Amino acid sequence: MSIHPGDTDFEVRQTFERELESGEVIFEEGDTGEFLYVIQSGEVELTRAVAEGRRLVGRLGPGEFFGEMSVVLGGERRIRATAVAPVRLLTIDGQTLEGMCVERPEVAIRVIQRLAGRVIDLEKRLAALGSDDLLPPMVRVLVRRAETGQDGSARVRSTLRDLAEESGLSMREAHRALHNLFDRKVLRLADDVLETDDLESVSACLDVA
Ligand code: CMP
Repeated sequence: MSIHPGDTDFEVRQTFERELESGEVIFEEGDTGEFLYVIQSGEVELTRAVAEGRRLVGRLGPGEFFGEMSVVLGGERRIRATAVAPVRLLTIDGQTLEGMCVERPEVAIRVIQRLAGRVIDLEKRLAALGSDDLLPPMVRVLVRRAETGQDGSARVRSTLRDLAEESGLSMREAHRALHNLFDRKVLRLADDVLETDDLESVSACLDVA
C-alpha cells in the first residue's frame, strides 16, 4: 500500500525532496499539516504523546507515505514523525495530491486503502481494549468457583448465564471475556466444562488486564 515514485513523476515540479538525518523530527504534534510525505529511502517512526511518555504508532519504510490526514482534512498533526535513519522524502502538497488523484485514480485508491486499513486496526485495538476491561470481573468469578486439583489445574462447572450474572457482565460481555482467556491460552472449554492447567495463570490475567 504505497505511492510509487513513478506515480509522482508527472508532478515532479510541484513536489520536492527533503533529506533528514536520523533523529530529526519531520513534523511535530500541533504543526499545521501542509504536506504528505512519501518515503524514498530510510525509515520513519510515528509516535504519539501519552501519559507515560510516547507510544509508537507505526514505523514506515520506502514507498510508504504518511501525513495524508491533515492534508486531506485540514487541521493539525496529531502525531510526531521522526527520521530513525537517514531519510529521503518526497513532499506533496494538498493541491498536487488532488491533481494526482484525478489523473491517477490508483493513487486515490491507495490513500483510501491506507485509511480503511487504519480503521480496521483501530477497531481491533478497541475490541481488545474493551475485552481487557471485562477480564477482571470474569477472572474473579472463575477463581472463586474453581474446583482445584493438587497439581494446580482447575475446573469450573458453570453456565455462561451464571458466570455473567455473578460477574455483573452481560451474556455477550461474559462471552467476550471468556474468549479473551481462550485466546491467551490460559483457559479452555472441554465437554462444557472450563478447564485450566494452572489457575495461577488465570489469576495473573488480573495483572495484565
Ligand atoms: P497526519 O495526521 O497528517 O500526520 C500524522 C500522520 O500519521 C497521519 O497524517 C497519518 O499519515 C499517520 N497516522 C495517524 N494515525 C495513524 C495510525 N493510527 N496508524 C498509522 N499511521 C497513522
